[in-house]
Amino acid sequence: MPPDFAPLKNDRILRAARGQTVDRPPMWVMRQAGRYLPEYHEAKGKNDFFACCRSPEIASTLTLQPIDRYDGFIDAAIIFSDILVIPQAMGMEVLMVDGVGPRFPNPLRSPSDQQYADLLAKEVDVKKELDYVYKAITLTRQKLDGRVPLIGFCGAPWTLLCYMVEGGGTKMFREAKTWVFKYGEEGKKLLQKISEICVEYLVLQVEAGAQMLQVFDSWAGELTPASFEVMSLPYLRYISKHTKERLKERGLDVVPMTVFAKGAWYALDQLCESGYEVVGLDWLHDPAQAVEIANGRVTLQGNADPGVLYGSDASITNVVEHMVQGFGGGKQRWIVNLGHGITPGVDPEKLKLFFQEIVRHTT
Ligand code: CP3
Repeated sequence: MPPDFAPLKNDRILRAARGQTVDRPPMWVMRQAGRYLPEYHEAKGKNDFFACCRSPEIASTLTLQPIDRYDGFIDAAIIFSDILVIPQAMGMEVLMVDGVGPRFPNPLRSPSDQQYADLLAKEVDVKKELDYVYKAITLTRQKLDGRVPLIGFCGAPWTLLCYMVEGGGTKMFREAKTWVFKYGEEGKKLLQKISEICVEYLVLQVEAGAQMLQVFDSWAGELTPASFEVMSLPYLRYISKHTKERLKERGLDVVPMTVFAKGAWYALDQLCESGYEVVGLDWLHDPAQAVEIANGRVTLQGNADPGVLYGSDASITNVVEHMVQGFGGGKQRWIVNLGHGITPGVDPEKLKLFFQEIVRHTT
């Protein structure tokens, strides 16, 4: 049974996700608990990044930092974790190298590697392997005391496959493209395996206290529209369908789900029919055009260029005005966010101004 938590005092984001009217648009930003905040560095100290994810105490502290700092503005918390905890649960080693990013010492290179057969054959105990995430979620819900809803998340199968075969970030996508154009059939088997783990992981996050779920397909934009239909979309659909079915079966709340397929502007129409209540937009979309395509089928989330937070106050106001106008005033079917994660080096006061300008233009 899910634990008992304090009643929600602010359900703006859940209402907006379900298409209900809100007094002002709900707001949060991707990577809101992160390196642009001095208190993040202080709390993280010398701890390794994944050690922070594995400590429910540290993860919940980091999750709450932006909620405290932007009290009254931020309408959701997102659990401090990473999409790469799934490859770890599947048995792959992943390190976070300071100033470099994630590194897999032994990436998966070819379907003829023993590692490929092992990954497919392994029965991952998703409850046990990722128990620290569920504990962090439950503790965070307790600490939040109903202030705002807590978002759980996972990486999309395509994006996770990219990391597993590239062994880290990349600009070339040489390995990932090899799995699209040479090992497509073997790739699909692995994508299916990852999808099944994603479903179980998301359901267990809800059981632990997550009130909304987001699937991050950060590398969707590397695919052609045709490859997206083969390597990404079927698995995004599988996840929404089966997560909802399993939540229902287990008597859990069927929480709203968001899909964020970065760079897949060409697939917006399909994403509106992929079983998610919310579709996240990066900054390549013009708000008004996206609203026209979505045509009331989903709630849209986004989509300011995170780079505007390096800019002048006047450019922040400009971007906000363009979004508010494009998203139709903001009282319905819009969740305010950036078009991708907030970047290190941003002055936290600029994010505050962004939130203040949204409030000023929508109330
Ligand atoms: O506040 C939040 O949004 C919650 C926490 C969160 C993190 N990662 C913390 C993090 C979330 C939702 C993620 C998801 C994630 N992780 C994605 C999908 C979203 C996206 O940005 O596209 C991806 C691709 C990853 C993989 C990952 N983790 C990369 C590529 C990196 C290095 C990137 C960089 O900025 O250098 C990380 C590290 C990471 N994940 C940090 C944080 C706060 C920085 C760690 C540090 O150096 O302290």
